[in-house]
This record gives sequence, C-alpha cells and structure tokens, in this order.
Amino acid sequence: MAMYGIPYQGSKSAIADDIIAHLPAGNRLVDLFGGGFAISHCALLSRKWKQVLYNDINPLLIPLIRGAIAGKYSYEQFVPEFISREEFFAKKDTDGYVKWIWSFGNDGRTYMFSKNVEPMKRAGHEWVFHNTPISGFHNLKCDLPCDAAHFSERRKFLSYYTKAHKSERYELQQLQQLQRLERLQRLEQLERLERLQQLERITTLEMTCMDYRDYKYQDGDVVYCDIPYQNTSDRNPDYGINFDFGAFYGWAVAQPYPVYFSSYKLGGLVWSGEKISTMAAASNSLKRVEALYCVDDHYNPPPKYIQLPMF
Ligand SMILES: C[S@@+](CC[C@H](N)C(=O)[O-])C[C@H]1O[C@@H](n2cnc3c(N)ncnc32)[C@H](O)[C@@H]1O
Repeated sequence: MAMYGIPYQGSKSAIADDIIAHLPAGNRLVDLFGGGFAISHCALLSRKWKQVLYNDINPLLIPLIRGAIAGKYSYEQFVPEFISREEFFAKKDTDGYVKWIWSFGNDGRTYMFSKNVEPMKRAGHEWVFHNTPISGFHNLKCDLPCDAAHFSERRKFLSYYTKAHKSERYELQQLQQLQRLERLQRLEQLERLERLQQLERITTLEMTCMDYRDYKYQDGDVVYCDIPYQNTSDRNPDYGINFDFGAFYGWAVAQPYPVYFSSYKLGGLVWSGEKISTMAAASNSLKRVEALYCVDDHYNPPPKYIQLPMF
C-alpha cells in the first residue's frame, strides 16, 4: 500500500488513491484542509492537475513538510536525537517535527512512549545511531557500519534480532526489554518523512497557511475539504482548532462552485469505501467507512443540516 504524506492523525494516506481517482480533473487541486499532506502528495504524483494548492490553518505543518521535501530529514543530513518526554512537552507547540513525529498516534499532544517503555526505546535509538551498547545485550553482534547509509538497515537488524531471540529462555525482565526493542516506530516514521524528497523537483506545489474561508477560488480549481472529525476534535481541541462544523456546512453550500469533502453526509455521494486504521500501540484495529460527498450549486440544502459521523 502506498504511503502518502507525513505520519499524521486522521491522515487519508490509506484511501488517497481512491479520493484522487474520484475527484474531477481540472487545472488545480485545492487541498484546503491539507493536514499531513497525504492528498496533496498523492495528487502531485498522479499528475491529474497542473497545480496543487496545499493549505492548513496550523502554522507548524508547512515548515515540517517543506523541510521533508527539501531533504532535511534525510539521514545524509540529519542524525535524529532521541526526544525525551520532557523535551516533547517543552517543544511540541513550536516544533512540528517534535509535535507529530514524537506523539502517540501522531496526535500532536501526547508523548509517544509510556514512562516504563521510554528507556528501552532510547537504548534502541542510541544503538542504531551511535552504536551505544544496550545494557544486558552483550551478544548483539552486527557487522553493519554505524553511518547514514546503514541506519535503516541497523533498525531492521535490531527488529530481526529481537524477534529471533524472543523464543530463547530469557528472564522475564529481559524478555520484556526485547519486546520493547522489537519495533522502533519513530524511526520507521522518520523514513517516511525522508521519502517526501522524491517531490523535490515538482514545482507545481503551492502552500498556504490560512483559514479555509480566506481561500479565493480560481477558474479550474477542484476544491477538496478533509475537515476534522467531529468526535476527534471534541476530545482534542488542538487538532480541530475549535472547528465550527455548522459554519463549514453553511460555507460549503453557499459557494458558487462544487465543494468536495470527506466524512459527513451532505450533498451527493461521490464515493465510499472502508478504511482500516491501526493505532501504533493499540491492540485492536478500527474499521471505518469513508465517504466523499459533493455540494454544488444544483444542490438544495435541507433546512436543518444533519451531521453524521461515518463510524
Ligand atoms: C482531518 S485533518 C486533514 C488530514 C489530511 N487530509 C491528511 O491526509 O493528513 C483536518 C485538518 O484541518 C485543519 N483545520 C482545522 N480548522 C481549519 C480551518 N479553519 N481552515 C483550514 N484548516 C483547518 C487542521 O489543522 C487539520 O490538519
């Protein structure tokens, strides 16, 4: 499955191909609630539009995405330091990299690791990037050099090593430590940021940081809105930035051009499909129906809008 954009809570990466396939062609795709960049990324690679406009109201996103496209997170230029719980809370409101890459489920608010897991994750991180021995694992022998060209291989090596040794007769404590080393999720996610470099030569991307109501329509624009999920923003006001759903519906039906949007029933159904979302540390996976709707000037809105979250 293709991975688009940065790791981001509510990312449309898993269904981006479907959404892009069902939006009409035009001159410019406007990703008005761009978030983790999945739709813009997929749209750029599809070459269905001459231009792509990415927009999001959160000012920390554009520097993070632009940095990733420019190669800032490539291992050639960047040896990631482990971000502790304290550093996370000190920096999460000013640094998009810390906020989304080091938060649980990429929610931007809660630290990635619980207090008891953090020391072992740090030990794995320091071994991959600095070859620092891991206490209690003196038999860990690895021929891979500790340099930018091999960091990714070293992460995979550690994962294979821990899986292979879990069946041996270890003390319970050491077994738990092995399990914690098995997946270094942060590093997998960093490698996803690194992949955005493939867009470096694409010059048809514009990025803006504004409220959706400040967007000015241009002839040939196809406007797509992935608004925050209502129940998500209730739990997490930072993510939804106190989003006013009623105002959005009013705005969408008032526009003289079609507005395509995800997840809430209003207007005509364009496409629907199932999305399986697996939270990083959750044991169960959630199945959710995703849908793409469109309101245009032929649509007569009901006197009272009914909001239906698609769970
Ligand atoms: C569901 S997320 C978008 C996810 C994105 N499609 C992806 O695949 O990663 C909704 C986004 O809307 C943004 N947002 C909230 N209120 C906004 C507003 N008034 N104008 C523009 N963007 C807004 C949030 O910052 C959030 O990133």
